[in-house]
Amino acid sequence: MTLARYAVFGHPIAHSLSPAIHAAFARQHGIALEYTAIDAAPADFAAALERFAAARGRGCNVTLPLKEAAFALCAQASGRARRAGACNTLTHVDGQWHGDNTDGAGLVHDLTGRRGLDLRARRVLLLGAGGAARGVAPALLDAGIDELVVVNRTPERADALVDALGEPARAHSRYWDDLRELGDFELIVNATSAGRGADDFSAPLSLVNSRSVAVDLNYGEAAIAFLAWARAAGCLETVDGLGMLVEQAAEAFELWHGVRPQTDEVYAELRGRDKTLVTAD
Ligand code: ATR
Repeated sequence: MTLARYAVFGHPIAHSLSPAIHAAFARQHGIALEYTAIDAAPADFAAALERFAAARGRGCNVTLPLKEAAFALCAQASGRARRAGACNTLTHVDGQWHGDNTDGAGLVHDLTGRRGLDLRARRVLLLGAGGAARGVAPALLDAGIDELVVVNRTPERADALVDALGEPARAHSRYWDDLRELGDFELIVNATSAGRGADDFSAPLSLVNSRSVAVDLNYGEAAIAFLAWARAAGCLETVDGLGMLVEQAAEAFELWHGVRPQTDEVYAELRGRDKTLVTAD
């Protein structure tokens, strides 16, 4: 039997958990498929995607640093992908790629479903304005937050993100150097790649109040620096990106296969498997 082919593209991609997640979802539903990790440097991505389509690739996820390129390569994109200007999920339909972005829905599912947080009326600080930040910002607004303040090292990118969101009453950009003057936030989301290397993460303690929740969209070692800062700053709860990863995969799986997988068992399995993953609770 020829298996339906799916994949995740990224650069680097060797340590991706997506193949294990999609294999587990497929087992739940008795669906036979192949899901592999494909390394593609940005300059080679378009050609790699074409080769994948020619080899009967039906759908793929896309991760760093290819999400904005994926959006540009799509013939059609969903509303949430257009608002993000980035795609993490592509489906091959009638010879064309259709793009979607399940990252924001994945984050909101993790925070509200798994962790029982009520996002409504929260003041939210979003650190970063790259592909990751753009993926989650619309979903945070849609979840009913009160205010979104976007701060980025390069201020023009924060301005561009806020302009694209088109909600001037709720979403604003501010300078990184002014973090001290922004007051405190109930939700602080790290969507930067600062700390993904060996760097420390540092920000003013004044951002945190007694019910602040800190979320890093990264997981594993890449989340250590920001979540260490958040704990030291007194955040009530710290959350890494593992739950979001599993939830965005579930959204993609449902798009491709028409069934919603159970995520709790897969999340627990991954959390237990890798001791380098930061404890989120
Ligand atoms: P991603 O897809 O992960 O968002 P990206 O588009 O390259 O990747 O964006 C990386 C983000 O991390 C950007 O917001 C970047 O800030 P700039 O726009 O100023 O480059 C941010 N970033 C990376 N290193 C950083 C650092 N050392 N301090 C603060 N922000 C940093």
